[in-house]
Amino acid sequence: MKRRTFVRSSLEAAAGLAVVSRASSLWAAGTPVRQSATSPSASSAVQRYASAVQKMKALPATDPRNWQNQAKIHDNFCPHTNWYFLPWHRAYLFFFEQICQDVLGDASFRLPYWNWSAGNSIPQPFLDRSSPLFDSTRTRTSVPPEVVAQGVITRIVSSNALIDLFSGATSTGDQRQGSNQGLLESGPHNGVHASILGDMGNFMSPLDPVFWLHHCNIDRIWASWSKGQGHTAPTAPLWANHVLTQFYDSSTKQQVKPKASLMAGGKWLVAYDSYEQSSAAPHVVPRAMQEHMMMTPPTKSAGRATARVRTLAGQSTASADVAVGVGTKIPVQITGDLRAFVGGIASPAALGVAQQKQAHLVIEDVPAPASPTTSLRVFINCKSPSLQTSLTDPTYVGTISFFGMGHGAMAEMKATTFSLNITDVLRRALESAGYVPNSPVEVGLVAVDLSNPGRVSQREVIRPGRIQIVALGS
Ligand code: C2O
Repeated sequence: MKRRTFVRSSLEAAAGLAVVSRASSLWAAGTPVRQSATSPSASSAVQRYASAVQKMKALPATDPRNWQNQAKIHDNFCPHTNWYFLPWHRAYLFFFEQICQDVLGDASFRLPYWNWSAGNSIPQPFLDRSSPLFDSTRTRTSVPPEVVAQGVITRIVSSNALIDLFSGATSTGDQRQGSNQGLLESGPHNGVHASILGDMGNFMSPLDPVFWLHHCNIDRIWASWSKGQGHTAPTAPLWANHVLTQFYDSSTKQQVKPKASLMAGGKWLVAYDSYEQSSAAPHVVPRAMQEHMMMTPPTKSAGRATARVRTLAGQSTASADVAVGVGTKIPVQITGDLRAFVGGIASPAALGVAQQKQAHLVIEDVPAPASPTTSLRVFINCKSPSLQTSLTDPTYVGTISFFGMGHGAMAEMKATTFSLNITDVLRRALESAGYVPNSPVEVGLVAVDLSNPGRVSQREVIRPGRIQIVALGS
C-alpha cells in the first residue's frame, strides 16, 4: 500500500506543539474502538466498512437504511453555524454505525476515522475505483496542511472557550438558525469539505463514504477536548434540552429525536484508539464563565446575560473587497487599552489557577465566495499580508473555509459569521514594543484558493461585513 507522506506544516513545527498520544491503552482489552483508518490494525474495520457501504447502497429506496436515504437525513436536518453542530453529528454517526452493524450482523463493528492531521490524503482504500468506498465526484483527494495542521487541532482541544469547539449559541431552538462558526467548524471541518468538493461540497456530502470518517475525526476532537479539566458541554437549557431532529434507529425501526445533553456521555460517546493532547496547562474555568463563552452574534446578543462577560473592544467602520490572491487590511478602531483583554483574571484562591480572558475576532456576514475552494487567511497587525506571508508568521491567526453556503433550506447561510480566538496572536502583537492604547488593530485578510493557492483574481472578491474584537471573561 502506497501511503503519501504528510507535509508537516511549518505552523506546527514553529509552534512546537505536542502530537497525538499514541497507542494509549485507555480501553479495556476487547472493547471495540474507532480506529484510525491508516493504522495497520484498522484494515479489517475498513474492509467491513466497505462491505457495509455496498450493502446499504444495494438496499431498496423504500428502506430507511438505504445509502441515499441516510444522506438525505443530513440534507434535511443537519445544523451548521450553531451550537447544535457537534451533538447532532455525534448522534448521526451513532445511528449510522448501528446500521453498519445491522447490515454486517456484527455488533463489534466501529467506524474508522480519518485523522487528516497525521495524513492529509484520503486513505488509500477510498481511492480504489473498484471499491464501494470510491466517489467519482471528488475534485481533490488531499487537504492543504494549513487547514488541518496538528497545531490547529492542539489549539482547539486546549481551548477554554466553548465557542471554539461548539460554534455560536442560537437565540431559539431552531436547529438551523445561523449564529456563528467557531474554530473547529470554520477551520478543519469546512476546510476538508471545501478541499474535496464533489459530493463533499454540499449537504448531500454523506454520499461520499469518506464523509463518515471525516466526521468521526471531528467527533474524536470533541471527545479529546472533553478530557480537559473544566471542559464540559454547555448546560444552557436551550442547548441541553434541545431535541436533535431526527434519525432512524435501526434497532427499534423508529424515527428518533434524542436530547443534545445526552450526547456528552454514555453510549453516544464511542471510544477511540487515540486522543488529541491539550498543550495548555490546565485551567479551571468557572462554570458561569464557561456558559458565557458561547457568545451570540453581537447584533443578537443585546440585552442578554452574556453582556456581563462579553466586552466589546472595538469594531471596523468600513469594509473592503478582498480579492483572491491579494492581501487586504481592515482597521478595527479600539477604545481603551487592549492589554486588559488578554490578561489573566484573578480566580478564587481556592482554585489556585489563573483564569485567562479570551479575545475573539468576529468577522460578520461574509458572503459565499464565487469559487467554493476560496478561503480566507486571517492575520492581526501584519504589515503587508499577502499570499507570500509565511504561515509561521507570528501575526497569522488561521485559515477559514466555507461550507453549505446557499443551501435552499438555510436562507441564513448566504453569509457566514466567523468567531476566531485570537488571544495568543493579539497578546504577541501587544507585547511588541510601542503599543499605545486606543490605537487601531489591523485585521489582514488574504483570500486563497485552496485548490490553486497561487491563483490571483481581481474579479473574484469577498467583502466581509463588520469586524469586531470582543473579550470573553469578566
Ligand atoms: Cu453536516 Cu461536515 O457536515
